[in-house]
Amino acid sequence: MLEHDVIIVGGGLAGSRAAVEIARTDPSLNIAVIAKTHPIRSHSVAAQGGIAATLNNVDPEDTWEAHAFDTVKGSDYLADQDAVEILAKEAPDVIIDLEHMGVLFSRLPDGRIAQRAFGGHTHRRTCYAADKTGHAILHELVNNLRRYGVHIYDEWYVMRLILEEGEAKGVVMYNILDGTIQVARAKAVMFATGGYGRAFNTTSNDFASTGDGLAMSALAGIPLQDMEFVQFHPTGLYPVGVLISEAVRGEGAYLINSEGDRFMKNYAPGKMELAPRDITSRAITLEIRAGRGINRDGTAGGPFVYLDLRHMGREKIMSRIPFCWEEAHRLVGVDAVVEPMPVRPTVHYSMGGIPTNTDGRVLASADSLVDGLFAAGEAACVSVHGANRLGSNSLLECVVYGKRTGAAIAQFVQNRKLPNVNESHYLQEAKNQVQELLDKSGDCRIGQLRQEFQDAMTLHCGVFRTEDVMQEGLNQLQICRERYQNIYLDDRGKLWNTEVIEALELRNIMIVGEMILTSALNRRESRGAHSREDYTTRDDQNFLKHTLAYYSQAGIDLAYRPVAITMFEPQERKY
Ligand code: FUM
Repeated sequence: MLEHDVIIVGGGLAGSRAAVEIARTDPSLNIAVIAKTHPIRSHSVAAQGGIAATLNNVDPEDTWEAHAFDTVKGSDYLADQDAVEILAKEAPDVIIDLEHMGVLFSRLPDGRIAQRAFGGHTHRRTCYAADKTGHAILHELVNNLRRYGVHIYDEWYVMRLILEEGEAKGVVMYNILDGTIQVARAKAVMFATGGYGRAFNTTSNDFASTGDGLAMSALAGIPLQDMEFVQFHPTGLYPVGVLISEAVRGEGAYLINSEGDRFMKNYAPGKMELAPRDITSRAITLEIRAGRGINRDGTAGGPFVYLDLRHMGREKIMSRIPFCWEEAHRLVGVDAVVEPMPVRPTVHYSMGGIPTNTDGRVLASADSLVDGLFAAGEAACVSVHGANRLGSNSLLECVVYGKRTGAAIAQFVQNRKLPNVNESHYLQEAKNQVQELLDKSGDCRIGQLRQEFQDAMTLHCGVFRTEDVMQEGLNQLQICRERYQNIYLDDRGKLWNTEVIEALELRNIMIVGEMILTSALNRRESRGAHSREDYTTRDDQNFLKHTLAYYSQAGIDLAYRPVAITMFEPQERKY
């Protein structure tokens, strides 16, 4: 059996930052990062526009209180304000720390870190590295994993969490290279497995974003919090859905409908294109519904609107947002210096996740903790984003809460013994699970079923929702679950069998999808990204509370827990 003091599942920003903090706090600890891709290929590397912090390099009036207020207002008052306070207060220090690690932030002429405008923020506080900010940060963090001697298991897929009598004891993991299965035990386990964008057919997320940590937690009896809040990024490149960063609008681009109108003036006149994402995604969807979308031949009535950068000029486009220009050029043949880009909302981010306290410790219920289990980053719900996240707060959350969780883990494992784990039991169970998949002789290919499932989620859990549409979505998911029994794999070998991984991932996104729809059906109000056409207003009296969804084969049980309101009383949210 493999043994480590700490196992971190996921090598992206939150996991890597936690590992660095553990190593800094106690260099004698034996730390492992287990990741299904190489850590450098984690989805964090795709983050573009930036990371928020009140450095005051561009805007001397900015304060951490203003950052906290913008975040809470953006969250439609569902964020836990004690967690937001920590996020905003600790932001400047974590950025300086990243700079000291060597992160290549873009600079002002005087050499200080540059900061740009971002949606929902009242000040220019988003630090960036052109439009490749995640890339710049992740590379330095992964370098530091090497420097601190963290053991990296890359291209190992974690199949299950070992959780017995309320204590996390380790994981079962599958080596994608050769099909070997290993049990690993540890004094503490952390999930930093990212989001679930691949539960939908159009997403900015990479192929690995399949909600594995969420599903494994749910299967172990841990609740998932606020899963109904799915963020649609307003500007996914049409038709592929990849991210065109909010930085493009932060640098001055316009959203234009088929009539050539900057339609955001009708939805958020005070913020225009820099309204928060929930509002901007709804605005684009409504324009398209009203026939003011655009077709490929430029006529009205089509499925996208334009993101127009032309007035910004070649020099600014190529220096500030070169990657977005390249994406549009390479993927849809648009030269954004002279043509507008076709965009529409794309699934981008999970506000919900594994509930944690502000030290990253995972909640077993509204008022109890799981022993030895931690989570941070998009997989977790601490909750700093509530019902709608502001752009550039997610990289920040990964770094602030990755660091805090790492510090908490380093303390937690002191004087703690490795737990007893029945290795042969877990090995046999995992081997049987894989063999069952290999032996399946149904007539349904995994890719086909995944497509049907993603289509059902996209159709029944979109920017706007109703009871009937979501109920039908749950019916469709039930059909998908039944069809899963009837899958078959083309590849029955051991070496690099990605179909085994796809089958396990499909099971995971199907669990996540059911959690999302069930939580959404029961929130009978509109708040942030959860916008119901049958309950059109926010209902603080009945729904100013977090959803906790508990999974079981028999169905999903819902409970609720209060929101921490420590600084700002809920108000009407206007921009
Ligand atoms: O638009 C973007 O660059 C995305 C940033 C974010 O999700 O925070």
